[in-house]
Amino acid sequence: MTGEPPVIAIDGPSASGKGTVAERVAAALGFHYLDSGALYRLVALEALASGTAMDDGDALSRLASGLDVAFAGGRIRLAGVDVTDAIREEAVGTAASRVAAHPPVRRALLERQRRFCETPGLVADGRDMGSIVFPQAPLKVFLTAEVGIRAERRHKQLMEKGMYVKMADVVEELRQRDARDSARPVAPLKHYPDALFLDTTHLTIADAVDRVLGWYRERVRG
Ligand code: CDP
Repeated sequence: MTGEPPVIAIDGPSASGKGTVAERVAAALGFHYLDSGALYRLVALEALASGTAMDDGDALSRLASGLDVAFAGGRIRLAGVDVTDAIREEAVGTAASRVAAHPPVRRALLERQRRFCETPGLVADGRDMGSIVFPQAPLKVFLTAEVGIRAERRHKQLMEKGMYVKMADVVEELRQRDARDSARPVAPLKHYPDALFLDTTHLTIADAVDRVLGWYRERVRG
């Protein structure tokens, strides 16, 4: 064995609850947490602010390489400005999914993501945590839920943040984003055979967290 800190890789579609589950699993184990989607959202936010074209992979990858980001106390700062809420806007999520389809952008973010893997361990959530970023992860989970449930969860999340959107628009946005993330040639969203499947349609967050912690104890730290 390499002696590297253990990684729990949690991948899945939009609004499946993987972020919340990953954060709670990390807290329960005292592990670090990587929200990889936030990095793509940050690049998207910078691209939108600077008027960078969404099809200019090289310009977008320069933004990705130069991201001046700090994660601390549950807040995210970009060049010193708190953008924790700004990056959750639906427009930023959609732009993130376009930004993320460019291979140079993904390459630019790779090392930055791997640096999160520190002792005592890491829980990482995204689309390619188990396939590309942490292929050595001893526990990989593909976490999903039916699209209607995911749309309800996302709608509730946005309303709680004071972002008023129509349910039908949320469903449509999720479908389009999942289709784009699954169809792209690089690091597509998909259930790889080495990831354990967790459907949270009928599970509470607490149930899903327990399931992942149970797998961790059974398979990694018995
Ligand atoms: O919160 P939600 O699950 O909707 O999205 P997110 O995890 O914040 O990711 C936003 C977008 O970034 C996704 O739609 C993906 O296109 C992209 N992404 C990616 O390509 N690879 C990752 N590891 C994480 C996110």
